[in-house]
Amino acid sequence: MKYLVFETPLEAERYAANRIAEIISFRPDCVLGLATGATMEGVYAELVRLYRARQVSFHFCTTFNLDEYIGLPPHDRNSYHFFMKKNLFSQVDLEPDRAHVPDGCAADLAQACAEYEEMIRKAGGLDLQLLGIGHSGHIGFNEPGSAADSKTRVVELCEETMRQNGIYFDAARGEKMPGRAVSMGLGTILAARELLLIATGSRKAEIIRKALQGEISTAVPASLIQRHPDLTVVLDREAAAKLA
Ligand code: PGA
Repeated sequence: MKYLVFETPLEAERYAANRIAEIISFRPDCVLGLATGATMEGVYAELVRLYRARQVSFHFCTTFNLDEYIGLPPHDRNSYHFFMKKNLFSQVDLEPDRAHVPDGCAADLAQACAEYEEMIRKAGGLDLQLLGIGHSGHIGFNEPGSAADSKTRVVELCEETMRQNGIYFDAARGEKMPGRAVSMGLGTILAARELLLIATGSRKAEIIRKALQGEISTAVPASLIQRHPDLTVVLDREAAAKLA
């Protein structure tokens, strides 16, 4: 495991974006596993900047996102389809038919999950999986208790995640956070050839300590990445504050 601790969130986000750009420059047709969440907004903003400066092109890349809420259509402002379109897909030259986000509105969710796994396999597997971490210790929406070999499937969101992400849903506008999602599994994530986890801010310090220096256990799903042979963890000073 390689840890990198930066003074500010911006420096951490820039490092992560530059690592992604570097992978693309080595292999323009790489397969990237992408993530959502507030932390990723800065990473994607930097990637867009690099694209505009002609330092990276996504033209030959294929991408697979980690997760999506069940029941939110792509045009819903809280959906991860919407997030990705706004923050990355509409801003760069990625081919729309190679940019995949799980379908949270499929009539047959189990089949859609199996097809998602098959698409990743057919693409040759993930060269890199970008990860955030939730307060519950989730990566993707793999909540505590998720099996280490789990695949893309329907998951129930835990209370901690409902609290963490509930703030984005505006009850006054009739928005309600779904309690279920489709998520890539821990097995799918761990099979990626490289993992890049980024976390910033003091609110992540405790879960970062547990995930990186605690016992490896499905009670803290992110702790399983400790076993990955090619893991880079990018932190700011505040998120790293509780590490030994
Ligand atoms: P955040 O989410 O970037 O909004 O903190 C990370 C996560 O829950 O995976």
